[in-house]
Amino acid sequence: MKDIITKEFGKVYGDANGVKTYFAPGRVNLIGEHTDYNGGHVFPCALTIGTYAAVKERKDMKVRFYSMNFESNGIIEADLTNKLEPKKEQAWTNYPLGVIWAFAERGMKLTHGFDMLINGNIPNSSGLSSSASLEVLTGFVLKEMFGFNVTNQDLALIGQFSENNFNGVNCGIMDQFAIAMGKKDHAIFLDTNTLKYEYAPVKLEGAKVVVTCSNKKRGLGDSKYNERRSECEAALAKIQTVKNIKSLGELTEEEFEEVKSVIGDPVKERRAKHAVYENRRTIKAVEALKANDIELFGKLMIDSDTSLREDYEVTGVELDTLVAEALKVPGVIGSRMTGAGFGGCTVSIVKDEAIDNFIEKVGANYLAKIGYAADFYVVSIGDGPKEI
Ligand code: GLA
Repeated sequence: MKDIITKEFGKVYGDANGVKTYFAPGRVNLIGEHTDYNGGHVFPCALTIGTYAAVKERKDMKVRFYSMNFESNGIIEADLTNKLEPKKEQAWTNYPLGVIWAFAERGMKLTHGFDMLINGNIPNSSGLSSSASLEVLTGFVLKEMFGFNVTNQDLALIGQFSENNFNGVNCGIMDQFAIAMGKKDHAIFLDTNTLKYEYAPVKLEGAKVVVTCSNKKRGLGDSKYNERRSECEAALAKIQTVKNIKSLGELTEEEFEEVKSVIGDPVKERRAKHAVYENRRTIKAVEALKANDIELFGKLMIDSDTSLREDYEVTGVELDTLVAEALKVPGVIGSRMTGAGFGGCTVSIVKDEAIDNFIEKVGANYLAKIGYAADFYVVSIGDGPKEI
């Protein structure tokens, strides 16, 4: 990839001398969905697929961007002497520009511009966090280029801040954290309340993690995402009238059952129930993985999906079909939607000898029911951002 993007950089910008190349991964969440903005736990891992950048410093204050994934947009340019603002015509460059803006908000101003070429191999809008990958990648490039004193954890927080405040998506910390802090062959057990985290080895003897992309784009997902968030906030506010807590993540299942009637709205009650139960499930799932109980881990993944479908209502016919078809295949240990939902991907744990059959059966039945094909990725867990 280094050669491909360096060569393309030369073609696009005229001269690739002195170009540096970087990578940041995508991520998949194994369990702990829609818990990160509810003060709960998540258990994601970084992937070996991700976003690549070739970058060269400029002497002036211009930043220019080009993506091999959106070639028809051509070069998109911004001037750092002007106030940076999100604009429709800036298209995908609103993500890197948001990160530059977020660094400046923290007093880290760029003293010159740069040219950047991007090439990603995460399918877009797949729920594998191509946008968070681009944010962390940009942060890493700025850190290296200007010597800013930031940790990888800071890069995650800056990425989230830019997405919340520049790009207007109220996301939690999971995606940027998983990407910035990724570790080969490990998932990250993160308490989003305290940002305490622990790496857990993903040793699935005789099985692999398979990501299935529904190819249904998220579409309205962002507005529904913000809606779920405010439903949980409203439920929390009611519970806080009877219990002294800061987030839903502080409650056990029993505590929730005791106070739930105060929510007074069946829809918001189900949203809060998911947040509480999913958090507890995530804690149990990590214990199961540590004890090498992959079967229990798989069962908890299936329970997670049921809760996301019935109580949180963030799935849809495409994701539901993928999970239902997956669970019919012998050798599938667990399967669930992953990421924000409303489209995007599922994540499954499949025994090695069952993988070919899984891809064939789920692929054929999905195509027959939905009318277009799904894509399958047997994924490997990789490291965080790096120079390549
Ligand atoms: C998106 C958000 C994350 C998280 C997930 C759902 O990926 O960016 O912060 O909330 O959805 O678990």
